[in-house]
Amino acid sequence: MEARYPSESRTILTDLVLPGETNPLNNLFGGELLARMDRAAGIAAGRHSRRIVVTASVNHVAFSKAIPLGSVVTVEAKVSRAFKSSMEVVIDVWIEDRQSGDKTKANEAIYTFVAVNESGAPVSIPQIKPETELEQQRYDAALRRKQLSLVLAGKMKPDDATELKALFT
Ligand SMILES: CC(C)(COP(=O)(O)OP(=O)(O)OC[C@H]1O[C@@H](n2cnc3c(N)ncnc32)[C@H](O)[C@@H]1OP(=O)(O)O)[C@@H](O)C(=O)NCCC(=O)NCCS
Repeated sequence: MEARYPSESRTILTDLVLPGETNPLNNLFGGELLARMDRAAGIAAGRHSRRIVVTASVNHVAFSKAIPLGSVVTVEAKVSRAFKSSMEVVIDVWIEDRQSGDKTKANEAIYTFVAVNESGAPVSIPQIKPETELEQQRYDAALRRKQLSLVLAGKMKPDDATELKALFT
C-alpha cells in the first residue's frame, strides 16, 4: 500500500452555534463540540484509509476557549500518523470573527480511529508521509501518545512503552 500525505485526509467542517447546542452560559455545549470533532476526524480517517473507521479512543481534548452562541466554528481534522490498523487524527477548532473574518484557535483534540472490515475486524492501512514541520512534529509525538493511550486502557504494560518512558528519563 502506498503511503499518503496528511493533506490528503484534511477535512474541514464549518457550522454555526445554534441555541439548542449551548450550555446555560450560552456557550457551545462540550458534548456538541466532541461530536463535531468526531465527525470531522472520522471523515479524515476514512479519507486516509478508504475503509470503514471506528473511534477507538479520545486521547486528548483541551476546551481552552468558550465558543459563544452564534459563532461560526471551523473544525479541521488531519491524520497525523498511521500505524497498522489505527490512525491518530489531530483536530484544530477555530472561531471566525464575523467582521474581520480572522480566525482564532479555540480548542484542539486528538482522536484515535481504527480501520475495520465489514465484520468490524481491524485491517491494515497505508502509512503516512509528513510534509510540513508541524506534521513531522505531530507524527513524531504520535507514537508516545499511542503508547500512553494503550497503557491507560490496560492494553500495554508500562514497561513496554519504550518511547513514552524515554520522555521521563
Ligand atoms: C477499536 C476496536 C476495533 C479495536 O479492536 P481490538 O479487538 O481491540 O483490536 P486490536 O487490539 O487489534 O487493536 C486494533 C488497533 O487499535 C489500537 N487500539 C485499540 N485500543 C486503543 C486505544 N485505547 N488507544 C489507542 N489505540 C488503540 C491498537 O493498538 C491497534 O493498533 P494497530 O493495529 O495500529 O497497531 C474495537 O475495540 C471496537 O470496535 N471498539 C468499538 C468502536 C466504536 O464503536 N466506536 C464508537 C463508540 S460509540
